[in-house]
Amino acid sequence: MKTLWQHCHVASMAHGQYSIIEDAAIVTEGAHISWIGTRTEMPPQGDVQTVDLNGMWVTPGLIDCHTHTVFGGNRSGEFEQRLQGVSYAEIAAAGGGIASTVRATRAASEDQLYTSAERRLKHLLKDGVTTVEIKSGYGLDLENERKMLRVARRLGEHLPVTVRATCLAAHALPPEYKDRADDYINHICGEMLPALAAEGLVDAVDAFCEYLAFSTDQVEQVFITAGQLGLPVKLHAEQLSSLHGSSLAARYQALSADHLEFMTEEDAIAMGAAGTVAVLLPGAFYFLRETQLPPMDALRKHGVNIAIATDLNPGTSPGLSLRLMLNMACTLFRMTPEEALAGATIHAAKALGMAETHGSLEVGKVADFVAWNIERPADLAYWLGGDLEKRVVRHGIESTF
Ligand code: NIG
Ligand code: FE
Repeated sequence: MKTLWQHCHVASMAHGQYSIIEDAAIVTEGAHISWIGTRTEMPPQGDVQTVDLNGMWVTPGLIDCHTHTVFGGNRSGEFEQRLQGVSYAEIAAAGGGIASTVRATRAASEDQLYTSAERRLKHLLKDGVTTVEIKSGYGLDLENERKMLRVARRLGEHLPVTVRATCLAAHALPPEYKDRADDYINHICGEMLPALAAEGLVDAVDAFCEYLAFSTDQVEQVFITAGQLGLPVKLHAEQLSSLHGSSLAARYQALSADHLEFMTEEDAIAMGAAGTVAVLLPGAFYFLRETQLPPMDALRKHGVNIAIATDLNPGTSPGLSLRLMLNMACTLFRMTPEEALAGATIHAAKALGMAETHGSLEVGKVADFVAWNIERPADLAYWLGGDLEKRVVRHGIESTF
């Protein structure tokens, strides 16, 4: 089935730029784009179904490349504690934080996790997201990490969204391994990752490199195992302190290093040379009331591609709108609306290893796009949330919500 989408303007994001096409036409054949350009230059298309987009602005479908959408319970009580002055690290040290979500996630059935995650994911989809990455990391044993990853897979089967599942078993130390971090890392590398990978549940491997989580040596072991299993890696790095996890990630050709507020210029040089994407998470920066900004100038100077994501999670970023994160990236991190949109499209695709097929509107790419009733592309980073009028097309078919 061939469809012509016309009477629209396009911000194609080809080469990471808006790349504006006014009075554009897009032709899709099945799930792919077969032609895109100025309408008056379009060659005859033969038998085609035509959709009039009434002057809307078309962008690639938004890609949320870092989320923890699947979890049990929530932590609004800890939010209140932090407002009283207790820090994230103090809450974690007292057995709250990630550990409390681990207890709630282990206690939840797969169906319960599915139901609550689906509710959250629908918020993202209503906001124009067509691809999402979902991490495990609140199970921290084989059975419960498997449960989370299975929920991630099911979400992709039942909702109009492409899901990439990332195993984040090295997120925190489970209680049964208290004071035995090296043993837990050995368990991840020897048992958990091989089993979960063999079950086809893992698209990438992530870890939390931080003084209150895992050291660079421990993360390196996880990366080596991922490499042996043929899986790409990513890393939570330099969120609260500088351990140079982002340089380690670059050394292992990681798809991305994420957070990065405390990274150094040397880290940026390493990431730029390796093509490792910097995934910035302004929701977590905001929600934790951080003050150390990621080094934007160093990232730009050394040619590091910058992506923006929600980090949707119960502890540090209960963010249900990727567009709101675009605004925060501009307001808090001084990105331009153009950089922010590239960060939620083409650079986010690269952070998931999908840039060949997703993230920009070009011939041969997957026909995932959103037609927005806005005046200019910058409006996407301008409005603070809300439900913008839009039409969402995934794999060449319009989604209905
Ligand atoms: O991306 N940094 C570590 N992981 C999450 C937070 C998880 C939590 O507090 O539940 C993050 O911010
Ligand atoms: Fe995260």
